[in-house]
Amino acid sequence: RDTKTEVGHYIGDYIARRINTFVATPGHPNFVLGCPTGSSPLPVYARLVELYKAGKVSFKNVVTFNMDEYVGIPRDHPESYHTFMFKNFFSLIDIDPKNTNLLNGNAEDLYHECEAYEAKILEVGGIDLFLGGIGADGHIAFNEPGSSLKSRTRIKTLAYETILDNCRFFNNDLAAVPRMALTVGVQTVMDAKEVVLVVTGQNKALALSQMIEGGVNHMVTASALQSHPWALVVCDEDATSEL
Ligand code: GLP
Repeated sequence: RDTKTEVGHYIGDYIARRINTFVATPGHPNFVLGCPTGSSPLPVYARLVELYKAGKVSFKNVVTFNMDEYVGIPRDHPESYHTFMFKNFFSLIDIDPKNTNLLNGNAEDLYHECEAYEAKILEVGGIDLFLGGIGADGHIAFNEPGSSLKSRTRIKTLAYETILDNCRFFNNDLAAVPRMALTVGVQTVMDAKEVVLVVTGQNKALALSQMIEGGVNHMVTASALQSHPWALVVCDEDATSEL
């Protein structure tokens, strides 16, 4: 697609179609959507909200699982992923807040929090479609370079490049950016029936070429998707400059 907005339209329409044609089965009564944060998916959420407002899709039977959350900032912090999701998506559609799942970066027992998250995904029948973005270093969710491609939900220390990238959201104050996060693993994403990635902007061009044209490797964790049976990458013109 030419622009970020067009990418958002394309993926938004695509997800709405999936939700509308979803066939419920025993043990899997809801469409289960994996959700990312970051600037890349914003046009996708905007399109889905637009479709909801036009009566073209409903989220009453949708359950969501977010990819990740920072450790150590309050849930209602303006930059928490919890705040991001309610502000940009959940509060603008007809989803039941009880059907939205986000990792709790302030849980007393973070290990248990991660295990329970994986168990809950299994309980609802697995993720039907995981929407994702990628970091400039080719990470998916917060699976930083070096993460095992078999990893599952866990605590992760953020790479310096990611902390620098995210600095813009914390008034450019490097010290204010959380150093750790809870994140689904690469294998958690790989287990989804379908994965759709939104990759836009010149700053993702190198990561996109490494992810698609490089070998599958743990330094570019999104490259694992090369072996996913049903993965779609939607990008804008800018992101393709290194292909
Ligand atoms: C963070 C998130 C990722 C996201 C990435 C890119 O690292 N954990 O899920 O893909 O940021 O964000 P942006 O889309 O703002 O470039």
